[in-house]
Amino acid sequence: MPVAISLNGLTISPPLALAPMVGLSHSALRTLTLEEGGVGLLFTEMLAARKLPEENSSSPFLMRSECEFPLFYQLFLTDKEVIGPAVDRLQRLNAQGIDLNLGCPAPQLRRLGAGVFLTNDPDRVRQLIASLRKSTSLPVSAKIRLGESPEKEKLVDFCRMLEGEGVDLLTVHARMNSEKFCRKPRWDWIAPIKSALGIPVIANGGIFSVADALNCLQLSGADGLMLGRAAACHPWLFADIAREVYGYAEPGSGRDRQKVYFRFTELLQERFAPERRLGRLKQFTHYYAENFQFGHHLAIGVQKSNTLNEALERAAEFFQQLNS
Ligand SMILES: Cc1cc2nc3c(=O)[nH]c(=O)nc-3n(C[C@H](O)[C@H](O)[C@H](O)COP(=O)(O)O)c2cc1C
Repeated sequence: MPVAISLNGLTISPPLALAPMVGLSHSALRTLTLEEGGVGLLFTEMLAARKLPEENSSSPFLMRSECEFPLFYQLFLTDKEVIGPAVDRLQRLNAQGIDLNLGCPAPQLRRLGAGVFLTNDPDRVRQLIASLRKSTSLPVSAKIRLGESPEKEKLVDFCRMLEGEGVDLLTVHARMNSEKFCRKPRWDWIAPIKSALGIPVIANGGIFSVADALNCLQLSGADGLMLGRAAACHPWLFADIAREVYGYAEPGSGRDRQKVYFRFTELLQERFAPERRLGRLKQFTHYYAENFQFGHHLAIGVQKSNTLNEALERAAEFFQQLNS
């Protein structure tokens, strides 16, 4: 029987999640990863809880197709007052879960004191989680980093507090708060968290291959894995990990990489208004270009385009040269 995570009525199967990523974890990439297979849980990019009640459902941040299930909406916030209205909105949007961003160090969050900066005030986090817990019966999850300094006990105590206040699922990005993405992830730091908690723990950070997935699971003992940048570089990696690590019957990644790229461009056009497409294509291409020899030509060509059509023409030229 392949492994899965059960959360009061919701089954996450395979236990593989697409990470919340600004500009990337939108309806088009979520759908592409579902089509490639092997992804068991989707996240939105982080959303400002304060602005959510006024956000139009067809906005690029809330745009969602029926196949995108289960979907957790990630929130960043600093005040309890915004929780009730934001949760009401998410319940009306048919959220399967609500995630609190406690791990993102982006400058816009520093200014607000949100994301990873909230964790400097654990009492405030406690109150926010308690309030989120009271406001919904949906699964509540949190995404954290490892902390400011290498103090494992403090980290484990913080995670115990999150569980005590009602978090149902915890994702740990295995880097300290200020560490850059190029730094080697500390997957072994997740092991004491996993041992101390009764809730499922998902490991995240630096998983780019089946070998990384196996290594991360061995060092962390995590219940599942979350892929971020690899989802844009290799949207088929979920299926490879599901099959080779968890024993799911996902087909091998036989799909042509050029076709996957153009399928993504189709999804962008299906899901987003014309002015919302090119920026998202540029961001995706930055990662996806890694699949090809001389892929930087594809990335640069798309990057310097002023319209989607221009970008598509440049991409077509790139693939023509690649195949000739
Ligand atoms: C472009 C980009 C945007 C991101 N946006 C978010 C976000 O909105 N919320 C969040 O919790 N983390 C965000 N992250 C962090 C990822 O969720 C993930 O923790 C990180 O990329 C490490 O995982 P990876 O090595 O698999 O990419 C972002 C990362 C990237 C690269």
